[in-house]
Amino acid sequence: SAAEKGGYASFMLKEIAEQPKAVADTLLGRIDAEGSLTLDEVRIPAAVLREATKVVIVACGTAFHAGLIAKYAIEHWTRIPCEVELASEFRYRDPILDQRTLVVAISQSGETMDTLMALRHAREQGARVLAVCNTNGSTIPRESDAVLYTHAGPEVAVASTKAFLTQLVACYLLALYLGQVRGTQWGDEIRAVIRDLARIAEDVERVLETMEPVRELARSLAGHDTVLFLGRHVGYPVALEGALKLKELAYMHAEGFAAGELKHGPIALVEKDLPVVVVVPSPRGRSVLHGKMVSNIQEIRARGARTIVIAEEGDEAVVPYADHLVRVPATPTLLQPLVSTVPLQVFACELATARGNEVDQPRNLAKSVTVE
Ligand code: G6P
Repeated sequence: SAAEKGGYASFMLKEIAEQPKAVADTLLGRIDAEGSLTLDEVRIPAAVLREATKVVIVACGTAFHAGLIAKYAIEHWTRIPCEVELASEFRYRDPILDQRTLVVAISQSGETMDTLMALRHAREQGARVLAVCNTNGSTIPRESDAVLYTHAGPEVAVASTKAFLTQLVACYLLALYLGQVRGTQWGDEIRAVIRDLARIAEDVERVLETMEPVRELARSLAGHDTVLFLGRHVGYPVALEGALKLKELAYMHAEGFAAGELKHGPIALVEKDLPVVVVVPSPRGRSVLHGKMVSNIQEIRARGARTIVIAEEGDEAVVPYADHLVRVPATPTLLQPLVSTVPLQVFACELATARGNEVDQPRNLAKSVTVE
């Protein structure tokens, strides 16, 4: 009903707007402004976490994209090798697992059959399983050794938005916690990032306040057939998620690519007027990647594509090559997906609406898929 949607036209718009609160709630009681972190719920003994030799993340759909981003954070802050795998592929390929493997199962609903079967397989092989889940008491957390709940609140729209942002938050917390427990060389950085996380909900709010031009742009593209998304580093899974949202909601052909792969194939798709969304890494920190991304934007623009550039505030190098520029607040490199995903959600939702689609209940999709 209209009342349940709190005045929004759809649950999806409501849930997009709730993201600052969802992020803040997922951090609440776990971090403080001084840079310390406590995750009492992770009831896997510190000794076990210290001895883990590998992290394997299993998930489906949007949760899989959260897992892809988590890999960058986990490997950077903990130096533990981390694999990410689609839950539906995992158990069928005889994966290498033992008691020193930490499996992380990410699921909004906690009921996705593919993810559940993957975690059962992992436990049979002796691995420890930690669930990252948004639904209290659901099957996946019940069958795991421990659970780190996301506090997004109920998500009704089929296409995941606020649950995704909170999955990212939970994965960052897990990565930082593992780093803290294992005492890596990144102690100072870990404390600094925790302080940055304490402010990140405000950054998400600022992005939401600047979305009107993105909505206008989306409406103007309603007649297109294809949109490409490019990203690098953590921006690559963000590009995949932007493309998934557009497929789910707008029923358009949308593909996400790692920008470095452009020259190995996808550039053949680039033609006049093709909208290409580019998620630009921060010019600080990973400056080499930033320069390469600017070259990619030049290359696609030289072929007549319409460049839609998502870039950090203060990044002036992209300005000459952006047909449309979407600014996001500067964050530490690894945290950028928390702000750069939001314009892509708004873009897909508005484009779908402009095409006359029902955004909360996209055709052929279910919120929770309880069959394999
Ligand atoms: C379905 C939904 C997706 C979701 C995926 C995983 O396919 O339509 O939006 O990302 O399941 O769901 P989960 O509840 O496991 O996160």
